[in-house]
Amino acid sequence: MSDTKSTRWSSTERFYGEEKEIEEFEIKFRKGRYKVLLEYIEPILKIKIDEDTRVLEVGCGYVPFVSILTKGNLYALDPFSIPKVPGNFRFEKTGVEDYKADAKFDLLFSLNVIDHVKNMNEAIRKISDLTMDKGYLILSLCTYNDNLSKLFFRYTNRWFDKPHPYHFDKEDFVETVQKNSDFRLIHFNDDMDKNIYPPQLTIDNFQRNFVNKKRNIYLDVLKSPSTLIRIIAIRIFTLISRKPFRPRKLYIFQKK
Ligand SMILES: C[S@@+](CC[C@H](N)C(=O)[O-])C[C@H]1O[C@@H](n2cnc3c(N)ncnc32)[C@H](O)[C@@H]1O
Repeated sequence: MSDTKSTRWSSTERFYGEEKEIEEFEIKFRKGRYKVLLEYIEPILKIKIDEDTRVLEVGCGYVPFVSILTKGNLYALDPFSIPKVPGNFRFEKTGVEDYKADAKFDLLFSLNVIDHVKNMNEAIRKISDLTMDKGYLILSLCTYNDNLSKLFFRYTNRWFDKPHPYHFDKEDFVETVQKNSDFRLIHFNDDMDKNIYPPQLTIDNFQRNFVNKKRNIYLDVLKSPSTLIRIIAIRIFTLISRKPFRPRKLYIFQKK
């Protein structure tokens, strides 16, 4: 692992640190999405979550997915964010690479996390070690639909996309996971916002209705001109490729 990635990882604390205020509408929005996601994945998994099911959420953020579960032995971890909602889960403030568990898990969730970690290959190996044989990894990640934007952000991310040290398309992401683990992909959805969530629960709707996006962008641009370059690059790549820019995709892996 290069020092640069490690240093950058620690610096992302300012994006996900403990101090962030979280508002009621955001909690409702996130929990609404989790419920829809749960309904979507239940028929795909061959296990039902009951009292004995061991569930771990990696990088749970401020509103953990496990907070909506009513059954199961529930665990969550995050190195920077502290959950701001109640729930029947045990939380530990740590990165997945350093997490120690007494037993393996039936289900692991990792929602929009794996491109933020300190060392991705190590994180994937650890997630695989923490999963029981035949257990599942439910993972969401924004990955690219075209090579040009992937390569641009992969090599310039330290300037234009600081919180995401890793940039993939579907194929090279799945290859990386399968190379570093005993997981195999059993289900894939190429655009969660389009195919899974109803219109009121899409990210676009969230930004349009709840976040004063314009003001945030102007502030970001003032603070850092690289944001402006990022916005322009995204526009150009979307125009050239005529494909949605880095949509959030769902990957369900099962351990062999
Ligand atoms: C984009 S946020 C996603 C949070 C939450 N899962 C969600 O979907 O709202 C990325 C999260 O990954 C966490 N993270 C960063 N490095 C990590 C690591 N090494 N192990 C576990 N989580 C990590 C960050 O603290 C942050 O909460």
